[in-house]
Amino acid sequence: MKNSQNITWHHSSVSKKERHVRNGHKSCVLWFTGLSGSGKSTLANAVDYALFQEGCRSYVLDGDNIRHGLNSDLSFRPADRKENIRRIGEVAKLFVDSGIIVSSAFISPFQGDRELVRQMFETGEFVEIFVKCPIEVCEIRDPKGLYKKARQGEISEFTGISSPYETPDTPEIVIESHHLTIAQSVELIKKYLKDKKIL
Ligand code: ADX
Repeated sequence: MKNSQNITWHHSSVSKKERHVRNGHKSCVLWFTGLSGSGKSTLANAVDYALFQEGCRSYVLDGDNIRHGLNSDLSFRPADRKENIRRIGEVAKLFVDSGIIVSSAFISPFQGDRELVRQMFETGEFVEIFVKCPIEVCEIRDPKGLYKKARQGEISEFTGISSPYETPDTPEIVIESHHLTIAQSVELIKKYLKDKKIL
């Protein structure tokens, strides 16, 4: 039995559509997924910056930051990663409902967890962006020194080393971050948003 059984949904007076009209664009979640060090956070922030400069309402939810606060009780075991992604999905849904284009940067290694989040949204609102980068490149970059620690056995269940990363089957966008500049990647994402009439 769900704990929400005796709770009634209260409908808001302002609709999502009215918020879209006010903002001059639709809302969606740009769900960046990929290995640690693939460039998710950098790209999510670059997209957010570009959208902000164009007068859009946007925001970034970042794995490392959220794990300091809302999700500080969660580990990297599969069940906790699932809960991490479920909560972020719910938070992203609130942002989308409020009319904002929200970029989320989480490894989100499991296909099933990403699918559960996709199902929370209306068609077209969930834009899965696979930041594709060979693990060898991520490991050379190793911006936080975590691959080194994982190889030395100091971190267990590290994605790509001792915990799996399930490649997205049909993401809306693939960004090969080791071949493209940040500016080129941002342009690709902006073009997608314009083609889909979100912008
Ligand atoms: S997720 O798998 O649950 O989606 P999330 O994106 O929130 O992961 O957090 C990943 C970040 O946590 C990585 O960028 C890295 O800095 C840090 N981290 C610490 N331990 C691990 C681990 N075992 N596996 C992956 N990332 C880890």
